[in-house]
Amino acid sequence: MNFLGKVAISTGAASGMGLLFSQNWAELGGNIVMCDVNEKVLNEKVAEINSKGIGKALAVICDVRDYGDVCNARDKAVAEFGTIDVVANFAGGTAIRMRNIDYDKYPEFPDVPIEIYDWGIDVNLKGPFYFAHAVLGQMREQKSGLIINIGSITGQEGDGYGMDYPTSKAGLMFGLTKSIAQFGSKYGIRCVCVSPGPVLTRPSMTGMKTLLGRAAEPQEIIDLCLYLASDKGQFINGENIMIDGGRNAMSRSNY
Ligand SMILES: NC(=O)c1ccc[n+]([C@@H]2O[C@H](COP(=O)([O-])OP(=O)(O)OC[C@H]3O[C@@H](n4cnc5c(N)ncnc54)[C@H](O)[C@@H]3O)[C@@H](O)[C@H]2O)c1
Repeated sequence: MNFLGKVAISTGAASGMGLLFSQNWAELGGNIVMCDVNEKVLNEKVAEINSKGIGKALAVICDVRDYGDVCNARDKAVAEFGTIDVVANFAGGTAIRMRNIDYDKYPEFPDVPIEIYDWGIDVNLKGPFYFAHAVLGQMREQKSGLIINIGSITGQEGDGYGMDYPTSKAGLMFGLTKSIAQFGSKYGIRCVCVSPGPVLTRPSMTGMKTLLGRAAEPQEIIDLCLYLASDKGQFINGENIMIDGGRNAMSRSNY
């Protein structure tokens, strides 16, 4: 694979899979616009990529909950590199973990302050929605583009406590991805959702069972994203792809 001259935007690019996607993209010759709220780490990671001298990286501080920030990321991508070939929406995570909720103080769903769930829905669902709205005009003009949403096995399974997360991920997996494909395909724009099971961006993910008896290496998820963006993946469109070691195929007795 090579992405020479191609331009991608990755959100959540300061850590985990958003960062790994950015590193891989640049190693394969592409230019990458890296968006995150963690300014310090983002700048360090962008400098590391640029020091390798292959694809170029650009840091854009962008809170995906803020439509102005999202438009700024789009504008910077076009001003610096001329096009937007891929947007990969990695920023996300369950609010009760990412906002460090105290389980003893807030034991069940109705006890958790609504602001926590607002944050989760805004980052996980509204962020990708905002990016779609902001970049699809540019992609329509180009007559090409790919939006990769990142869903989750939890979008299929639900979660009786961290409810913002499956609600948002299901929105990406079953609503937003198909809708973008319906709008975009006549302009050569595709949209695909990649929905992982457990991924080892955190050691705790080994606790989630799969039929294969292990969690994914982050690289296994990124390889699929790169395939979708490559010449080989061009007929995949409007679909949610589970990449979960068979967790979605487990019978209830396996849990
Ligand atoms: N790790 C897993 O097991 C797993 C499983 C299924 C799906 N996913 C999904 O994959 C994606 C990446 O997961 P990860 O584990 O690599 O993530 P991570 O927690 O390592 O990184 C998330 C990044 O998002 C950034 N971020 C947080 N809020 C933001 C905001 N408002 N605007 C912009 N950036 C923001 C953080 O600063 C961080 O750099 C997420 O959408 C997650 O829901 C992960």
